Amino acid sequence: MNVKNAIKERKSIRKFKEKSISNSLIKEVIDAARKAPSSHNLQPWNFVVVKDKKKILEFEENDIFIQKEMYKTPVIIVCCVDDNPYSKHSNRKLEIAMNFINLSLASAFLVLRATELGLGTCYVAWCNKEKIKKLLNIPKEVIVPYVIVMGYPAENPSPTNRKKLSEIMHFEKW
Ligand SMILES: Cc1cc2nc3c(=O)[nH]c(=O)nc-3n(C[C@H](O)[C@H](O)[C@H](O)COP(=O)(O)O)c2cc1C
Repeated sequence: MNVKNAIKERKSIRKFKEKSISNSLIKEVIDAARKAPSSHNLQPWNFVVVKDKKKILEFEENDIFIQKEMYKTPVIIVCCVDDNPYSKHSNRKLEIAMNFINLSLASAFLVLRATELGLGTCYVAWCNKEKIKKLLNIPKEVIVPYVIVMGYPAENPSPTNRKKLSEIMHFEKW
């Protein structure tokens, strides 16, 4: 699959087959994230892979997700970003924002590679991130903006709408 098709094929998948994903495939998708660009090449990301059914049950017992179907996901990738901005820069707010941008880029690489491998994904921000941090022993200073659920798709939703290219693209001036 080429990049064009991976972009076309990717859509949020929220229902998965029970089939588990091999660790080598999981490593493939995280490795794609690892190769993303980042400001100052900081690579301020970490990914905690949760696939143990007991752990996912613990998520359920702790009411981590608002959407109950997420507990049926075979793999939850907890996306983490450092809260330690580039120290040479004076604008701390901007640098923290930059770290989020970096994590987003890495996540986009991750979901496109997952698509190429026949896996479905969905970003899930609608979850209790502080409880996730506690359950997984994630350091206090690390931020979890969202998780990515991943598995073999058990649904094929219609593509969601997008703005027209002419609405968002401007040649030479706005
Ligand atoms: C940062 C982010 C957070 C999201 N959080 C959720 C979520 O909590 N629950 C959910 O069902 N979908 C979530 N989504 C998926 C979006 O609803 C979805 O990407 C959007 O509707 C476009 O659909 P598509 O991904 O199928 O193209 C999230 C997407 C992003 C990028």
